[in-house]
Amino acid sequence: MIILGICFGYHDASVSLIKNGQVIFCSEEDRFTYLKHDSNFPLHTLTYLLERFNIRPDQIDHVVFGENPYQKFISRFDTFFKHDLFNISQFISLSKKWLGSNLWSIKRIAEFLNISIDKISYIDHHLAHHYSAYYQSNFDNAYSLVLDSIGQDQSLSLYKNDVLVKSISFENSICYLYSLVTNWLGFSPNSSECTTMALSSFGKQLKNNPFSKIVTFKDGDILIDSSVINLKSLNAKAHIKQLEKFLGVSRNSSQKINLSCFNTSNEHFTYADYALAIQEVFEEMIISFINFHCQDDNISNLCISGGGAQNCKLIRKIRENSKFKNIFIPQAPGDAGLALGAALSKSGKIGNDSALNFYLGSYVEIDEVKDVLSSLDSKDISNYSSENNQYSSLEILELTESERAVFLAEQVNNDKIVALVNGQAEFGPRALGARSIICRSDSIELAKKISTQIKKRAPYRPYAISLTEDKAREILVDKNFDSTFYGMQTDALVKSEYHSLVCGAIHIDKTTRPQLTKKGFYHDLISQTKNQIVLNTSLNESGYPLCKSSKEALLLFLKTPIDIILLDNLIVIKK
Ligand SMILES: [Fe+2]
Repeated sequence: MIILGICFGYHDASVSLIKNGQVIFCSEEDRFTYLKHDSNFPLHTLTYLLERFNIRPDQIDHVVFGENPYQKFISRFDTFFKHDLFNISQFISLSKKWLGSNLWSIKRIAEFLNISIDKISYIDHHLAHHYSAYYQSNFDNAYSLVLDSIGQDQSLSLYKNDVLVKSISFENSICYLYSLVTNWLGFSPNSSECTTMALSSFGKQLKNNPFSKIVTFKDGDILIDSSVINLKSLNAKAHIKQLEKFLGVSRNSSQKINLSCFNTSNEHFTYADYALAIQEVFEEMIISFINFHCQDDNISNLCISGGGAQNCKLIRKIRENSKFKNIFIPQAPGDAGLALGAALSKSGKIGNDSALNFYLGSYVEIDEVKDVLSSLDSKDISNYSSENNQYSSLEILELTESERAVFLAEQVNNDKIVALVNGQAEFGPRALGARSIICRSDSIELAKKISTQIKKRAPYRPYAISLTEDKAREILVDKNFDSTFYGMQTDALVKSEYHSLVCGAIHIDKTTRPQLTKKGFYHDLISQTKNQIVLNTSLNESGYPLCKSSKEALLLFLKTPIDIILLDNLIVIKK
């Protein structure tokens, strides 16, 4: 039985494959096109999937689209005619998007795959989020919270197992308000909410939180004052103007932010106070909502999906302030996960006792790597070499898996920056050792070098760590590791005596974002480093998705001061 899940047209286009009840492949389209959050028809991902798994049209049993395009079409135009009628530019853009493309999504899939339209179905946006979480969790009984900016009409939905308990409409979307504030802070909405979250840790608590005046929790509902921010309309430009009227002028995105996780003290930055203010109200609303509606005392498990589930500070706060100590978040909680949720709606629940598999993306193309390496001459190398990245030749080693783990651990211990391209790529926003850059976690110098010379990443955004379960028990305050600890989905407080051990990857509030490991190659590598901890960041340049192709990874290695790269069974070392 072959089931494909597909989503595109809105945020992150993606494709998933379930074969005989097993999730085999999931990937975002942006990994192939290198356009972050690419929402176009996932042509490249589908082509890759069909070729890689040798799937013919007649072998496809079902295709499920992770959205109800007809309901969404009606909803968007209904909203337009009720609230935005005289906005001509919005009408043009809406018509272009819907009549030109989105409304014909199902037909387009059928044509591309060369299958009958009868094989294609679609499901509600929030149901797809819910299935991506609940159907992969090990929970028989669970509440499942979808934290979205806007789905089809709803912003927030709560299910008890498969039954919808409560939903909140877009006009009271707390996630949308968070995105709007992200925009006001000068960052990209629907993309840089984690930057707002990172900035919030530098903020000072405002005497009167402005968002508390316009967001309230009453009788189980989250309410946003529409006389201040009118979300009945879908006019994003009007929303930001309303927010400016309320808070003052937006931050100019070119204004430098002089904050750093690596400093013990930072100058006061007013915008950080507002980042903290929205983070606090966001946490308060979601926790109030959960505690109000999750009344069944027999259920102690909580699934969370939707883009809001990527707020790792919220996840810890839920654990600390609700009855839920066991939280499950899927690999891609945002809209990239809709394709998987859609496919799961046909296959049914697949949760089992093994850990959630994050490694579902594209494979290492070792032949392509060998071609590039064999074509490199000394002139090419001197072109790539620079003041901060000096080398004159490359050494290539072929080692066994256990030898590779020992060798790379030793390199980490010796202050080297190591890139990993190993096995299938990660599905979802986190680099978890398959397409990662790693180094010692106890070196601020190395962390700064990665920030300034490789990633071009703002120093107020903290790095994450990968560490063994045993080490996590020793250094983290929390001892109860639910599945979110294995996928960098929660932040965690570090005991004070261990702050220096993770000084390259600890935030200003002494939290870190951990990935615990317990088996496999990456675990073996980490186990053999001096402290059983590494700093881990995604293998990409700032503003781009994770390196999809091995060739891109190799080029990033050549032009930046990464010392060593693992490419499947090859290790390439700069000399
Ligand atoms: Fe969504």
